[in-house]
Amino acid sequence: MKIGAPKEIFEGENRVAMTPDSATQLQKLGHTCVIESGAGAKAGFSDAAYQAAGVEVVKTAKALFEAADVVVKVRGPEEKEAKLLREGQTLISFFWPAQNEKLLELCKSRGATVVAMDMVPRISRAQKMDALSSMANIAGYRAVIEAGNNFGRFFTGQVTAAGKIPPAKVLVVGAGVAGLAAIGTSVSLGAITYAFDVRPEVAEQIESMGAEFVFLEFEQTQDGAATGGYAAPSSPEFREKQLAKFRELAPEMDIVITTALIPGRPAPKLWTEDMVGMMKTGSVIVDLAAERGGNCDLTVPDQKIVTDNGVTIVGYTDFPSRMAAQASTLYSTNIRHMLTDLTPKKDGVIDHNMEDDVIRGATVTHQGAITFPPPPPKVQAIAAAKPKEKPKELTPEERRAQEVAAFKKQTRDQVALLAGGGALVLLAGLFAPASFMAHFIVFVLACFVGFQVIWNVSHSLHTPLMAITNAISSIIILGALMQIGSGNWLVIILAALSVFMAGINIFGGFLVTRRMLAMFQKS
Ligand code: NAI
Repeated sequence: MKIGAPKEIFEGENRVAMTPDSATQLQKLGHTCVIESGAGAKAGFSDAAYQAAGVEVVKTAKALFEAADVVVKVRGPEEKEAKLLREGQTLISFFWPAQNEKLLELCKSRGATVVAMDMVPRISRAQKMDALSSMANIAGYRAVIEAGNNFGRFFTGQVTAAGKIPPAKVLVVGAGVAGLAAIGTSVSLGAITYAFDVRPEVAEQIESMGAEFVFLEFEQTQDGAATGGYAAPSSPEFREKQLAKFRELAPEMDIVITTALIPGRPAPKLWTEDMVGMMKTGSVIVDLAAERGGNCDLTVPDQKIVTDNGVTIVGYTDFPSRMAAQASTLYSTNIRHMLTDLTPKKDGVIDHNMEDDVIRGATVTHQGAITFPPPPPKVQAIAAAKPKEKPKELTPEERRAQEVAAFKKQTRDQVALLAGGGALVLLAGLFAPASFMAHFIVFVLACFVGFQVIWNVSHSLHTPLMAITNAISSIIILGALMQIGSGNWLVIILAALSVFMAGINIFGGFLVTRRMLAMFQKS
């Protein structure tokens, strides 16, 4: 089949649905590729680069639609593009079928099959085709860069000859794909980063990225969590608590990035006008949800405004297009994966298998019929991880009782260990010579002290502990080497064994340390 990418005609759209690299991969599936001249120019891909990758370049969109069996695009087709579709032709692009009924009808009437990239179900197998996540990832990164561009200070704190600079404080609201990308970028730039989400299960992810989860004291934090990795609307009580928390944080925050989204609904209003009023002059809000009305009361979609108190609010809705090269690379890879699934035999023949969950979910018109909305996928969407059960709050008395019980148990164990050791020493004292006894007592005490030290050292101190055990191992080696020339075969064997085992400890320690260091070294 011939796969073709036209030039995007939406004003300000810089992305392209096929790159020279993705075209090479598509040809490996048995397809041929065609592109409209200049389609990749704004994303940094010249016609010559496409030609070098074996792609045919045609002059006009009309010629492209005529030549291609499968048309791949970024934005959904405009009416004049949809009218170029023909029976049996396939279009793969963002489409938003729920908001574009007329367009859906038009594509159906043309007899074309439409695969909407925004309808790919969020199941594990489909992650490689999840173009929404690819774009949200870019948007999250770019939101932080944009915020930095409009913020008059450093992100990271610095101590310079000219004075001490405090780090910026960043709050990310909503920790989905875009939010997590924003958190990662903000943390890596050195800002103190806070994040909030209604889904409590993301707290761990937020903290693992080096940000602080803004915890809300509320009985049903579960309220906002639904399945499929998406949120459900919060109750009015939860919302009030959330807004109260944000009011507390507003005067402190330098940058607020809002990404809260509930599928199929307008963006929840979470950063109110009075919160903007409480922020310091020079602070920045980047509202990623601007397209759906914005999470901030004052956001104007597609614009950057500065409020009377000097807060900049960025409401751009085209962040991925502002990073066109990266966005085109990721999007064209998502498209290529979709075409890989549509070409199961890699023979250049499209097999539109409507039994396949992913293909069925994304197909909105097929064989002259509208196939939207799809039935629920047979495979469950990526389930929301079960939140960890919150430990029950203990009263001071209960806590003290617990501590006393733990102390008693520890003392019992220690007494048992000592008693066992004592019994052994006594037993040996009855039969063994006096010289043996002195060594044996040292041995039993060493076991006891060693056990206590290793057992009671907290995990975070295991690295220094390893260093100490290495030092002990070298003492053992020294002792063993002194014994090795004793002439008694049993002693020689035991000494050699000691050298060998202590050697394992020392060299094993080196190997583990090397591996750990390699993990932290950037390639
Ligand atoms: P997502 O569904 O992965 O994440 C949304 C997050 O918001 C979820 O974690 C959800 O639990 C959370 N959330 C929902 N209600 C909340 C509330 N009341 N308080 C706190 N958190 C709440 O969505 P994704 O893919 O991360 O997209 C985020 C937003 O970014 C969307 O609005 C999307 O349209 C937008 N976006 C904007 C772009 C731009 O150029 N401006 C480009 C790409 C995405």
